[in-house]
Amino acid sequence: MRPLPSPAARRTLAGYRRLPLGVRAHVALRWRTCPFERVAAEVPSGWILDIGCGHGALSRHLAGLDPARTVRGVDVDARKIDAARRAGGSLGGRVSFETVPVGWLPDPEERWDGIVITDVLYLLGRDDALALVQAATAALAPGGRIVVKEIATTPRWKYRLATGQELAATQVARITEGDHVDFVQPDDLVATLRDAGLEVRTTRIDRGYPHPHLLIVGTRADGTRPSGRPADQPDAEYFATMERHAGDHWWYRARREVLTDLLDGRVTADSTALDIGCGTGEVLDLLAEAGARTVAGTDLSDDALAAARTRVGSGTVLASLAEQLPFADRCADVLTSLEVVEHLDDDRRALREYARVVRPGGTLVLTVPAYQGLWSRHDERAGHRRRYRIGEISDVVTAAGFRIDRASYYFSYLVPPAWLARRTPLGRLLGDTDDESSANPVLAAVFGTLARLERRALRRPDARLPFGLSILVVATRTDT
Ligand SMILES: C[S@@+](CC[C@H](N)C(=O)[O-])C[C@H]1O[C@@H](n2cnc3c(N)ncnc32)[C@H](O)[C@@H]1O
Repeated sequence: MRPLPSPAARRTLAGYRRLPLGVRAHVALRWRTCPFERVAAEVPSGWILDIGCGHGALSRHLAGLDPARTVRGVDVDARKIDAARRAGGSLGGRVSFETVPVGWLPDPEERWDGIVITDVLYLLGRDDALALVQAATAALAPGGRIVVKEIATTPRWKYRLATGQELAATQVARITEGDHVDFVQPDDLVATLRDAGLEVRTTRIDRGYPHPHLLIVGTRADGTRPSGRPADQPDAEYFATMERHAGDHWWYRARREVLTDLLDGRVTADSTALDIGCGTGEVLDLLAEAGARTVAGTDLSDDALAAARTRVGSGTVLASLAEQLPFADRCADVLTSLEVVEHLDDDRRALREYARVVRPGGTLVLTVPAYQGLWSRHDERAGHRRRYRIGEISDVVTAAGFRIDRASYYFSYLVPPAWLARRTPLGRLLGDTDDESSANPVLAAVFGTLARLERRALRRPDARLPFGLSILVVATRTDT
């Protein structure tokens, strides 16, 4: 017997309550005729890509079932994506949808923990279907899993029923986009997954259903932890130091005060604010204090996320690459990303992603370290890829679709000591003191005073300091 929808599935379907009858009926019928809950049971935690997500019910269900999942649904049908976005449910930004062109393939640079393809391949024709499956395997993280739901070719009566119905859906009713109804032979799918080095198993999941549903699950067995984590990024010790200093260190205090001034008037009571690369979560607190209604942070480091979750609660913090955010287009009024883009191999890609999630008219606040010439062991330890000049970071920001409102150096008083320590023999005498985190009480008092003077100078909205060890950028998302 076919099982009744679980309470979680009923919640997912209830999210479509306010959508037009046609959409509701389609989603309800799909859910009755396809064992989505069996499919969902095979999908891991982490970052999930749902290819051919249709109206998005499975994507939403996956995110609803497991708070450790962030799900991206893609489909060629813009109307279905529109409905997927409009459906309700409190998933805290962990599900997003995108319309993709016909022939789209996942980017092999991406690292998904799970990729789901449910009743899509038969619309593509054999060659394109196998090419899509192959591309999906290339975009799997080590330890990641691909879950394909297709149709078995036996028993014949079930197979004929499935073929007949799909012909009606594509050619007569035109409910589904696609020129073909050409079920791919399960053996071909299994062979493609095995050729890509995956461990494969197939399971029939059609008991109680008139269609011959078949599940093919491929696991990339060459990793213990699914991860798209780039090399050389900060470790647990780095975050422990950050957490220790964040409360009372003059550098953090100075930065917090400058940011509070910058955010004033840009964060309002109904704002959604995101902090990307949130580290141990101090800026999340700041955004909440500034009055944002919804605050969410992302980071790729488990150590950072664990600390941030202790500080702000687990619902607020998600695991994600800055270059691939689990948020819907134009969902954010304010996006902060402080001391993050210098860690990224491709800063331009991240900025384009920031531009995707910030609404037109919304605010971006970035800070980055200044001057490649002041590169030090601190940069190496932190996993930096570069330091910037103001023109360089401004270029990256404007190319992504932002208008710069303010770009200024700050921590100007740290340039002389940093230069002495990093560019002269004095540095060798002092050792590589990490001037951004040294906690000497005399220096702390001096720097604390200088920080207050600098804050006062930066309060003028047009103030631009001509030099500094860091750069701050405030920008507005343009309309295009
Ligand atoms: C210097 S910390 C800054 C933390 C926090 N933004 C702050 O200013 O207090 C840099 C953060 O960027 C994160 N990070 C590095 N590469 C990332 C990536 N590709 N995606 C997301 N976060 C990343 C690191 O894990 C780390 O938490």
